[in-house]
Amino acid sequence: MSTKRKVWVSRPLFPDVLAHLAEYVDLEAETVEGTRTPAQLKAKLADVDGAILGLSERVDAGVLEGNTRLKVIANLGVGFNNFDVEAMTAAGVLASNTPDVLNESVADYAWALMLAAARRVSASERWLRAGHWPGSATRFDDWLGVDVHGKTLGILGMGRIGQAIARRASGFDMRVLYHNRSHLPEQTERECRASWVEKAQLLRESDHLILVLPFTPANRHAIGAPELAQMKPSAVLVNIARGGIVDDAALAVALREKRLAAAGLDVFEGEPSVHPTLLDLDNVVLSPHIASASEDTRHAMARLAADNVLAALGLGESARHPPTALNPEVMANWSD
Ligand code: GLV
Repeated sequence: MSTKRKVWVSRPLFPDVLAHLAEYVDLEAETVEGTRTPAQLKAKLADVDGAILGLSERVDAGVLEGNTRLKVIANLGVGFNNFDVEAMTAAGVLASNTPDVLNESVADYAWALMLAAARRVSASERWLRAGHWPGSATRFDDWLGVDVHGKTLGILGMGRIGQAIARRASGFDMRVLYHNRSHLPEQTERECRASWVEKAQLLRESDHLILVLPFTPANRHAIGAPELAQMKPSAVLVNIARGGIVDDAALAVALREKRLAAAGLDVFEGEPSVHPTLLDLDNVVLSPHIASASEDTRHAMARLAADNVLAALGLGESARHPPTALNPEVMANWSD
């Protein structure tokens, strides 16, 4: 019988990262994407010392109940609203996420969505692919979008990703406003060329508003019908944060009634389902939660998740020092 620690990876992962893990642990890695019920997840976790999970897997007290073996769960993402960290701490399970390695790629993607939504990239491509261009008398005033350069960029949630988004704005000669619970240090504000404003002013003055705040119960529907009503009808809204931060039903109505020019959405309430009205509208760019999905960044995220698991299990280069633990204090109570 193997004396190696056992680790389960719940979704297909890069072969080199799996090979690295397999040098140290007895590895069970899923080879196809799939969803599991809480009972199935609980049964899987009962049998391992560590796990790497995706954002759709919810870890709570019920899933951990009676589990005396599990030491660590690494989340493949920076957001960890799928983890009840308090319950994990109570169960003695270390939690980790993947901050920082994805900041620049996610910031790039926020810009991609903003530009695509503002300049109608997806809608015009759909029209072209449908064969409408030849023979159509395209008018000079067709496909008009809204400019990005020279406008006011608003950022709601100004952590490290928000700051990376802001830094890109100087190349577009934009004025940058942000709202966050706390003000950034002056030096950081200067580097980002960004000014703190109240949320109401952010909503009122932004030509393009990008949401980057973490999902918490308090942030649910941070952008709903009342907030949308305060925005300019010419504004573009981008959500790369989490589904549920925007009231998607209210957004769909605002977009349909042209009370908002356009939106770019990478995350959805109840994803992978998408509000049916959003699917029908041409003034919204939709993508399946891929903001961090560049080759380099997804690799870096997977490696970081693996490093956290190995370190928590006392293995690998940073044994006992998981680089991005969310509740490192649990390790003090481990006897092995
Ligand atoms: C993606 O949404 C992440 O949290 O990394």
